[in-house]
This record gives sequence, structure tokens and C-alpha cells, in this order.
Amino acid sequence: MIILKLGGSVITRKDSATPALDNENLNRIAKEISESSKNAKYGELIVVHGAGSFGHPYAKKYDIGSSIPDEEEFQRKRKGFCITQEAVKNLNSAVCQHLRQYGIPAVSVQPSSFVRTKNKRICHADLDLIKKYLDSGFVPVLYGDVVLDDDEAIKMAVLSGDQIINYLGKNLKPDRVILGSDVNGIYRKDPKKYSNEEPVKIVTSHEDLESTEGTQTVDVTGGMGGKLTELLQLAEIGVESEILNAGSPNLIKRALMGERGIGTRIKL
Ligand code: ADP
Ligand code: IPE
Repeated sequence: MIILKLGGSVITRKDSATPALDNENLNRIAKEISESSKNAKYGELIVVHGAGSFGHPYAKKYDIGSSIPDEEEFQRKRKGFCITQEAVKNLNSAVCQHLRQYGIPAVSVQPSSFVRTKNKRICHADLDLIKKYLDSGFVPVLYGDVVLDDDEAIKMAVLSGDQIINYLGKNLKPDRVILGSDVNGIYRKDPKKYSNEEPVKIVTSHEDLESTEGTQTVDVTGGMGGKLTELLQLAEIGVESEILNAGSPNLIKRALMGERGIGTRIKL
């Protein structure tokens, strides 16, 4: 089984204040997935995608996940939750459409309809349906979403695609976890701010790096640092992952076809 994450930085224009799809990238990546799967059977691939400009600006505007002091703020956040949920659902429709155009049996699985968090970490998510979809040859497509949180002080949380990857990885023990982002891998420092560096080949801890901030634009889920925290937890239980540049043609395809070490591997 392979779990593939498509970062919001790749499939959307993440620096946009309003939802903006990166059609060109999405189309190419859908094609690459279909080409890589010529000999493979579907039913062994799960796609998870980020929210990019469809989710972060709204989640930030409505401060989803911060404490709720009064009824007025509760109502404001509840409205923001609905707006964010709808926006990321629209992105998911676009992703599924592109995948289907290339013959991939993509089925949408909406996190906010089956996942609950407690203190922003997944505490309840029944994966039976996902397993059943896989058994039936579908490619389930999940995504960063807003979800209900059991902590009464916050009531709602932002669930990143990276935390979903962590949860699926722990529970399904995939052979490969591949994350496509807009950089060639993890660097010692943000490559968008510091040039002339190569990505680190293998990362085993946060200490291997100097800094891991998020994208320079709004990112409510922790950027590269948050991603690495999720992936290191997987590495601890023996599930290796790799971050590569999905913005560069054919890297997703090559990784899906079995190549390792294109970007940064996270393993102990
Ligand atoms: P995605 O949307 O693909 O899930 P994020 O935007 O959350 O990804 O994180 C990717 C961004 O993290 C990159 O665009 C990069 O600018 C930033 N970043 C910060 N620190 C680092 C680092 N040490 N190595 C690589 N990228 C980094
Ligand atoms: C964020 O998901 C979800 C919302 C903002 C609602 P991600 O954190 O996985 O999105 P990207 O990949 O960073 O854009």
C-alpha cells in the first residue's frame, strides 16, 4: 500500500488570499499517478491532499482551534467552520475530477464526516470504510479539513493532511508514504529564504535541521516543522516516508514506481 500526500503548496496557489487552484500541476500529477499505476492495481493507493488557499485563509480568519470565550465567538467560529469545510470540499471535488479524468477510481472521503479530535489530535476515526473502498479497488481521497473537537474549550479544530497521513500510517502500515510539496525535500533551513543548499538526504530528528517554518504566507498547520513532527512519529514505528518536489515533472511518477531517495527520506 502507498499513501501519497499532495501538498496544498502544489495543487493550489498557496500565496493567494482566496481559493485558487493550480490546474496545471493538478492535471500533470493526475496523469503521473495514472501512468505509474499502469501495472499496479488500484486498491493499494490512498491519496491525501492539503488545503492550500482553499483552507488556510478561512481557518485563520475564523481562528478555528482557538478557545471560545463566549456565545458570540462560538457562532462566528461555527460559521467559519462551515465556510472552510465547503471550500476544502470544493478543492477535493476538483482533485477527484482530475484523477477520474485519467481513469483513476477516486472516491472522496470527507474527514469532517467521520473524524473527531481531542486537543487537536485524532481520537476517533473508523477506517473500516476506507479499507472496504480499497478492497473494492477504489482510490480513497482524503484531505485537510475542519473537524469537531472533544475539548469543550475549542469545540472545533483544523485537521491537517499531515496528521491524517500520520494516523493512516500508524493504522494501516503502508509500504510507502510519499509527500509531494513545492520544495525538493527538507533542508537545514527554509530553501525559499536561504539559497545554495541541497536537501538533507535522510532526516532522523528535528535536530538534523536549523529551522522549519511554514510557507511564508499563511499556514495554520505548522508548515514543514509540523509535517516533520508527524513523519518522525511514523519513523519511530518503522514506517518510512519521503518528501519530494511534486512541482517538478515526473518525480511523483518515479516515486510511485518504486524509486527511493529522490527527495528527503524520514527514517530512523
Ligand atoms: P505543503 O503545502 O506542501 O504541505 P507546507 O507549505 O506546509 O507544505 O511546507 C512547505 C514549505 O515549508 C516550503 O514551501 C518551504 O518554504 C517551507 N520550509 C520551511 N523550512 C523548511 C526547511 N527546513 N526545508 C524545506 N522547506 C522548508
Ligand atoms: C490544512 O491542511 C487544512 C485546513 C486549513 C482546513 P494541510 O495543512 O494539510 O494543508 P497544506 O498542505 O499545508 O496546504
